Amino acid sequence: MILFSHLLKAPALTGAVVPSSQFLARAMADAAQGAARIVELGAGTGAVTRALARRHPGVPLTLVELQPALARQLARSFPRSDVHVAPAADVLDRMPDEDGPVVLVSSLPFRSMPTLARVQTRNSILQFLRRHPGSWLVQYTYQPRAPFDGEPGFVWRRRRTVVANIPPAGVWTLRAVAPA
Ligand SMILES: C[S@@+](CC[C@H](N)C(=O)[O-])C[C@H]1O[C@@H](n2cnc3c(N)ncnc32)[C@H](O)[C@@H]1O
Repeated sequence: MILFSHLLKAPALTGAVVPSSQFLARAMADAAQGAARIVELGAGTGAVTRALARRHPGVPLTLVELQPALARQLARSFPRSDVHVAPAADVLDRMPDEDGPVVLVSSLPFRSMPTLARVQTRNSILQFLRRHPGSWLVQYTYQPRAPFDGEPGFVWRRRRTVVANIPPAGVWTLRAVAPA
């Protein structure tokens, strides 16, 4: 599946010309170590999904993808995962409670998404992390700064820079910190 054709149809949603490299995919998967469930947001062509399935074979995997053609392909390639064709914010708002940390692994293109979708998705992620203490977000960005603005009570940390990706990408994590 070529991401470029989806970029032409939905540029603001897709946000990338080529799929994530295997190096970026592995760095994202490494940052999900310790998850009781992984929820991948904007799974696209499945480049990161493959690394997640390999690195965490026993961990339940939920895939979220807005574009139906990509979601159908994901369901075929990863039949043991739970695929949702819906906006990430809606899926997060409806996610049931889980025992143990849930890791949100996101390829969502925050810098190019339409404003309303960006704000709703950010708010849903922050609410999800508040509701699920011990959970965290893994997000990459092509920018030299954090992927989006957090708010008091959340901490961004830059974990890796992956130069073997077009373009080079930073892998960041976001966590809610316990009140002092
Ligand atoms: C950068 S691309 C995919 C990257 C993926 N790692 C790959 O290599 O194919 C981002 C994906 O997020 C999806 N997307 C954008 N906005 C979304 C939203 N609000 N909810 C769910 N998926 C979304 C797009 O359809 C696109 O497939």
